[in-house]
Amino acid sequence: MNINIITLFPEIFVALNSGLLGQAIERKDITINLLDLRDCSMNKHGQVDDKPYGGGEGMVLMAEPLEQSIKNISETKRGHVINLSPQGEKLSQSKAQELSKLDNLTIIAGRYEGIDERIINQYVDEEISIGDFVLSGGEFAALALIDACARFIPGVIGNQKSVDLDSFSSGLLKGPVFTRPEKFNNESVPDVLLSGNHARIQEWREDQSLLRTMERRPELLNEIKLTKKQIKLLED
Ligand SMILES: C[S@@+](CC[C@H](N)C(=O)[O-])C[C@H]1O[C@@H](n2cnc3c(N)ncnc32)[C@H](O)[C@@H]1O
Repeated sequence: MNINIITLFPEIFVALNSGLLGQAIERKDITINLLDLRDCSMNKHGQVDDKPYGGGEGMVLMAEPLEQSIKNISETKRGHVINLSPQGEKLSQSKAQELSKLDNLTIIAGRYEGIDERIINQYVDEEISIGDFVLSGGEFAALALIDACARFIPGVIGNQKSVDLDSFSSGLLKGPVFTRPEKFNNESVPDVLLSGNHARIQEWREDQSLLRTMERRPELLNEIKLTKKQIKLLED
């Protein structure tokens, strides 16, 4: 997957070089093409933002530098163009999986009051939000989006099965997990996990996943078809 990122702060993306994502970039499973918006300024002062028409607070990223930056990416490498915005469709696990199948993605990370609306109308395929809150810039949203997508790219996560078992993949949250020691501050690991009985462990995990979803995110249960056994467990 090739990801182009248009940003005023390319240095923030050094965070991509760590962990599994960093390894994927090193292997070239993912390539990151950072485009500094300032390079496309239309004047010698490096200006890329201006006051909003009609007055009001803040500054707006200008259309011309953004257009130039987008045009600097060859059409074959540009792919699907996303503008990050708190007003976009909320990012979900299924959206991340869908985007991970694309060969080319261009992400616009806004700043200030956002980007001139005409860029959205003329160049953007989709607007994505990472949640109902406002960040000062799209860079952190871009990092979250890229990380969520990368987990679905074959080879990025060593054990692909762990992605299939993650929260939201089956529509439920994942249940609790434990590691050594068996006893920590008087709290023991549930006996069943030490039993060696794989069928019982699997059943316990499925039950915990269901109960945790009911406790923490009950609205998710409306989105999936529950079995009779699951309905009985929830009723109990
Ligand atoms: C301060 S915000 C602009 C918010 C805008 N004035 C509004 O009220 O909708 C600046 C930039 O941060 C990014 N941003 C802020 N919150 C975001 C979110 N929840 N999801 C994705 N991007 C976000 C966007 O790129 C946005 O252009």
